[in-house]
Amino acid sequence: MAKLGLALALTLLTLFSSSSYVESRIRHYKFRVVRKNMTRLCASKPTIVVNGKFPGPTLYAREDDTVIVRVVNHVTDNVTIHWHGVRQLRTGWADGPAYITQCPIQTGQSYVYNFTLTGQRGTLLWHAHINWQRATVHGAIVILPRLGIPYPFPKPDKEEIIILGEWWKADVESVINTAMQAGLPPNVSDAHTINGLPGPSPNCSSSGYTFHVETGKTYLLRIVSAAVNEELFFKIAGHRLTVVEVDASYTKPFTTDTIFIGPGQTTTALLTADQPIGKYVIAISPFMDTIVATDNQVATGSLRYSGAAPLSGAGATVAVPARNATPITTAFEDGLRCLNSPEYPAAVPGGTDHSLLLAIGVGMNPCASCVNGTRLVADVNNVSFVMPATALLQAHYYNVSGVYTADFPAAPVTPWNYTGVAAPANMGTATGTRVYRVGYNSSVQIVVQGTAVIAPESHPMHLHGFNFYVVGKGIGNYDAVNDPKRFNLVDPVERNTISVPTGGWTAIRFRADNPGMWFLHCHLEVHTTWGLKMAILVENGKGPNESILPPPRDLPKC
Ligand code: C2O
Repeated sequence: MAKLGLALALTLLTLFSSSSYVESRIRHYKFRVVRKNMTRLCASKPTIVVNGKFPGPTLYAREDDTVIVRVVNHVTDNVTIHWHGVRQLRTGWADGPAYITQCPIQTGQSYVYNFTLTGQRGTLLWHAHINWQRATVHGAIVILPRLGIPYPFPKPDKEEIIILGEWWKADVESVINTAMQAGLPPNVSDAHTINGLPGPSPNCSSSGYTFHVETGKTYLLRIVSAAVNEELFFKIAGHRLTVVEVDASYTKPFTTDTIFIGPGQTTTALLTADQPIGKYVIAISPFMDTIVATDNQVATGSLRYSGAAPLSGAGATVAVPARNATPITTAFEDGLRCLNSPEYPAAVPGGTDHSLLLAIGVGMNPCASCVNGTRLVADVNNVSFVMPATALLQAHYYNVSGVYTADFPAAPVTPWNYTGVAAPANMGTATGTRVYRVGYNSSVQIVVQGTAVIAPESHPMHLHGFNFYVVGKGIGNYDAVNDPKRFNLVDPVERNTISVPTGGWTAIRFRADNPGMWFLHCHLEVHTTWGLKMAILVENGKGPNESILPPPRDLPKC
């Protein structure tokens, strides 16, 4: 009898612990940041990577899981890691941007990032968030649905992670440091990479990435852009892709032959291996519809059907889009809509508490020691952001004055014709460490207005701590009277990074339901370096779960 009772208790115990009763788990990871000699383009350089890998390890979890990552710094450079797109509800201490939410992890030190994945499922990325370290310190984050919850699209047979990047033969920090001293743009990368591999290049015959498929099977491609300074086109010869999720937010299925993806963005798409057995080229190439230089080296890999002849060359080729193929980017952006289903409804805020107009772009300031007597800078509302010496979030939490001012202008102080041909040379960009303050749960609208100073350019803008709805966009100057009439308030795409079109604007909305200090910046790293960044300070609310949690005890000190 006692034996039977024990058996019953054990059965019940296993039942409960293996069923959906215990749904959320704690996932532990250890990231060792090390310097390792890596060879690409037939040349080697000491490279900062995580756990000896480029790209770094994939972080897997389910919605509602808690992720605990111990990051140990084994290099001489300072380190931080950002979990790009993870909402970090009340856990801003784990967000990662250096001097915004934390001081860097110094040599020999470690820091434990502890956060919970709430209300998100899909693909994101993690990357270093200090200087240009993210060029080689990055990897994918996969958030699976809760146990027992299906995808809102046909179940794929397999999944594949595809990480896009840029490679410099030189040390990336010396690339940007040299440029900053001269006041000039930094050298473009020497190659693009697909899962760390450039593929064959003019002076170096190295093999590229291969994606193995079987006829008739469907694959979920988790495409991540960890590129540094360039927006990219992604194509696979002979195959179409059906986008089902971007930035860990489900979309209405959208079928296309070209993915347009900016640094920091993720696109998850279904691919069915429905073509004749063989090899098909996978290609990535840069997008730039203005006079700015890009790395025009096309990185290639191949999609290979099982049964394809072993030496069948590169495979069926694919025509990459023209570098300035603006219509392809527009068609892609316009094709994205959030799912807005009963299970995943859209909740577009009214944007009525705060309405900001942020004019962004590049400018020039006088610089006696620079090559041309001027220095390239970048700004938001004519403020080029200066990094503080201590983290903004700590200054906010402990009420330390003198680190920042909460007076960021909600609109340009002197409005001008932002996208006009005769844009001013802007020789007087101000500098400052200024943030914009909003109350807890405010409904916020931000119109990001591109400018034509020096040259209009497409900017992938990223907001930390939130997903936002992209309610509108247009070319030219934003018209506050007429443009809102055309806003999509029904099923706008929900993202964390959006490409603001060249010489145009994009309107985003979000509810400020996450107290903390949230970085907003262009995800082209060169523009971040030049100052195209600011922060949104969200106050604590009054309710029990509306305040930022206390900082972890191992939070690094500056
Ligand atoms: Cu992906 Cu502030 O970064």
